[in-house]
Amino acid sequence: MGVRFKGWGIGLPDRIVTNDELSLTLDTSDEWITERTGIRERRVGGTAMSLGVIAGQRAIEDANMTLADIDFLILATTTPDRLCPATAPMIASAMGLTCPAMDVNAACSGFMYAVRTAYGLLETGNKRILVIGSEHLSRWVDWSDRNMAVLLGDGAGAAVLEYDPDGSDLISFSLGADGSAADLLTCEHGGFFEMNGKEVFRRAVRVVVDSAEQALASAGITADDLSLMIPHQANIRIIQAAAQRLGIDMDRAVITLDRYGNTSSSSIPLAFYDARENGRIKAGEYALMTGFGAGMTWASAIVRWS
Ligand code: ACO
Repeated sequence: MGVRFKGWGIGLPDRIVTNDELSLTLDTSDEWITERTGIRERRVGGTAMSLGVIAGQRAIEDANMTLADIDFLILATTTPDRLCPATAPMIASAMGLTCPAMDVNAACSGFMYAVRTAYGLLETGNKRILVIGSEHLSRWVDWSDRNMAVLLGDGAGAAVLEYDPDGSDLISFSLGADGSAADLLTCEHGGFFEMNGKEVFRRAVRVVVDSAEQALASAGITADDLSLMIPHQANIRIIQAAAQRLGIDMDRAVITLDRYGNTSSSSIPLAFYDARENGRIKAGEYALMTGFGAGMTWASAIVRWS
């Protein structure tokens, strides 16, 4: 069996917050943030639901489908609008969908976990699944904490996945989780995101490299065969370190964190969309999608565009 990506969409708040703007209220600077993270600005606003609705609608339009074509909705989010109910049914209702809908929380690996879940559902009877990554991270940021405030942004990205008995865009996966590292990156009830940045950085490089190597091996290809690396957008230095260890030059890496910051579950579909807009997605070529995040969780997939 196979699964095809049929359409993509994004939803971004209009409000742009630059590093200079953050420097007005925080003891930080554009120079520090740019050098240490690669981030220059981020979008702030909306909610997981409102941004998810925009991305989801656009993905269905992009796939030339109608609402009736979609038979499952999976929302990857770390920042649901409420603890209960899940945000996915509210997105479905706002869009006019009546199919099953559920949230998946695997932090910044969330979109890839949702794609893996969709793959399993398509293997067992579903036909077309809308997968959305949507985050309202700014709501859970302590804007007086320079350690976190400079990193995160809001946004959403979505894809429609379709069952295809004759071939697949998704070639292989490698997913993992290690709850013994849970305390490295947390957001307690009623609290804000807190992180041991150095340790997250160290482990992130390791799990991205390991899971990417496993996904490449399962696909029967090497890093030389990849045209693109579409990584989770947390820090340019993490992407550079992982790419270097994998033997992927940075010309092949898609970078959007300079404009959007770290948008957690949304960052991989936002990066895919950016690559497509810039003509970097070509039929028959291989790409690596790879993410890591709180949990810790990690997930890599090899994709071959049809
Ligand atoms: N502006 C200025 N100085 C700062 C800032 C800031 N915004 N933030 C920290 N500093 C200071 C620190 O206080 C420290 O000062 P000190 O030396 O006086 O103690 C100094 O800068 C160096 O801090 P480090 O933590 O050593 O800086 P580092 O180079 O490690 O960069 C960073 C920090 C950017 C957080 C990095 O560790 C990182 O990117 N880690 C990974 C983050 C990540 O990937 N998170 C992923 C998941 S997010 C999610 O799941 C929602």
